[in-house]
Amino acid sequence: MNLIVEVPMVSRLLFSCSIGLLSFSVFATEVKSSSDAKVSPVDIVNQMEANGSHTGFRRNHAKGLCVEGIFKGTKEARELSSSNIFSASAVEVIGRFSNPGPNPNSPDNAPMPRGFAMQFRPSKGASSNMSMLDVPLFSVNTPEAFLELLKVKTPEQVAAFKEKHPESAPFFAFIKDFGVPQSYATVDYHSLHAFKFTNKKGKEQFVRWNFISDQGNHFLTVDQAKAKSADFLSKTLEEELKKGPVTWKMEAILAKDGDSLTDPTVEWKGEHKKVQLGMLTIKKTSGNGSSNCDLINYDPNNLAEGIAPSDDQILRFRSPAYAISFGKRVSEQAQKKQ
Ligand code: HEM
Repeated sequence: MNLIVEVPMVSRLLFSCSIGLLSFSVFATEVKSSSDAKVSPVDIVNQMEANGSHTGFRRNHAKGLCVEGIFKGTKEARELSSSNIFSASAVEVIGRFSNPGPNPNSPDNAPMPRGFAMQFRPSKGASSNMSMLDVPLFSVNTPEAFLELLKVKTPEQVAAFKEKHPESAPFFAFIKDFGVPQSYATVDYHSLHAFKFTNKKGKEQFVRWNFISDQGNHFLTVDQAKAKSADFLSKTLEEELKKGPVTWKMEAILAKDGDSLTDPTVEWKGEHKKVQLGMLTIKKTSGNGSSNCDLINYDPNNLAEGIAPSDDQILRFRSPAYAISFGKRVSEQAQKKQ
């Protein structure tokens, strides 16, 4: 397979989210793990840049495609959360599908988790973001382990990482046979983290959410993937959208006693109540590089009242890392224009 490999395949599969020497003290907040190790968002962004540095691009999920659409919430969603994204009238959505890693030319036909980020822009009130993957579990549950994973390059290092981090086993098992989707539209996307919904009466409920594809889940065989071009996912979606919109149903999985609310490596096992929250309709693409979504920081903790982040330290850590990457890429783009 003629792949433009910048970060070894194994690393691209392992970390799905991966910035320089920013010395803003606000971003250098140290996060303590149970092992007492310390890592800052700056360390992580620096490592992402060490894996491949591309001026003006996101330090992770550098390759992507901007899309536009609407979201309509259900009555059941409004009973669970007061968030303005669940309004009965259509809410504007600016989204972005992406490949992980720092390479803006990463080959669409290589197996790797895909990203889907959205900004909901209700006509009234604050905006909210969601930033998801098409895998249901994350690889690690501490920023320190995430930094270690970003440094993993060889099969021997992978083996050593797995031995040191048994919590990553479910993720490795899941991605073992994870192929290349036929389209960005033929996969489900998952919140991975738990979030707290609060309704108008103040009732709280922790949930994880999924976006279930109405196009179904369809993957290519290895040979079919080899025959595809490096940009086929963007091209395929553009062609599909010429024929009509693509849609996803958003569902909440309601947390039960015993479910981890802070560990994205742990599956919620057994029967769970699911609630239909709404329908997403993606209507058109709007390119990459100069369109609306490139000026968005899809920080998943930017949420309007009614949905709040859990205490998952990976989730909390994402805000400063995204802010550093966003600040760097936007200022680099501005410099390019001067
Ligand atoms: C410690 C863990 C993580 C770190 C440090 C991290 C870091 C980053 C960074 C720096 C970016 C680029 C942001 C920008 O320039 O706007 C990014 C993008 C992204 N990340 Fe993460 N990430 C982490 C975990 C996750 C997880 C758990 C998910 C999914 C649930 C995820 C999904 C995404 C997606 C979809 C994008 C692309 C957003 C866009 O299109 O702008 N990341 N990540």
